[in-house]
Amino acid sequence: MKIAVFASGRGSNLQALIDASASGFIPAEIKLVISDNKNAVALKRAEAARIENIFIDPDKFNTKREYEKDLIELLKEYKIDLIVLAGFMRILTPTLINQYKNKIINIHPSLLPAFKGLNAQKQAIDYGVKYSGCTVHFVDAGVDTGPIIEQAVVKVDDSDSAEDLSKKILKEEHRIYPEVIRDIVNNKIIIEDRKVIRK
Ligand code: GAR
Repeated sequence: MKIAVFASGRGSNLQALIDASASGFIPAEIKLVISDNKNAVALKRAEAARIENIFIDPDKFNTKREYEKDLIELLKEYKIDLIVLAGFMRILTPTLINQYKNKIINIHPSLLPAFKGLNAQKQAIDYGVKYSGCTVHFVDAGVDTGPIIEQAVVKVDDSDSAEDLSKKILKEEHRIYPEVIRDIVNNKIIIEDRKVIRK
């Protein structure tokens, strides 16, 4: 199975996946890293790991559809089977999603369906929840609405800032994302309607 990772920023999840692939924990190759941000640290991490890394400038395209058509060409060229969103801060449209149905996964820093969208950790702190966490899910046409594959819970302490909570959640992200991808690669994840079963 060939994997493409989409990332917009720091790329700590990408790094966890690179390490998991290098060690054999994920028995598949990360073939391609794509970013919509020229300065993404994620691109540098891919470069250091000798993974093909490509910045696709969204501003070069008139529409999202054209942008995604370009992405699809690239994904086909590299024979990509699984698209992993790792801090990719751009909403995908049906142009791409329909071509890769149940083959795109995302990680989100909250216990979905709570706190969708941007700044999920701050939303959780502002709301005053006592527990939060992260969610790995398939990507559908909604924002953070796709079938849930796995979640991990962290305790929110009274003194936690959004940054403190982000750090706690990130630790869990780096644990569950490689585990889920390993299971997808090993065909252990079945999707029935919107319920996901892990064998
Ligand atoms: C992660 O916390 C990820 O869950 C979040 O961005 C961060 C990326 O960190 N994603 C979203 O908020 C998507 N809506 P990273 O670049 O260090 O992996």
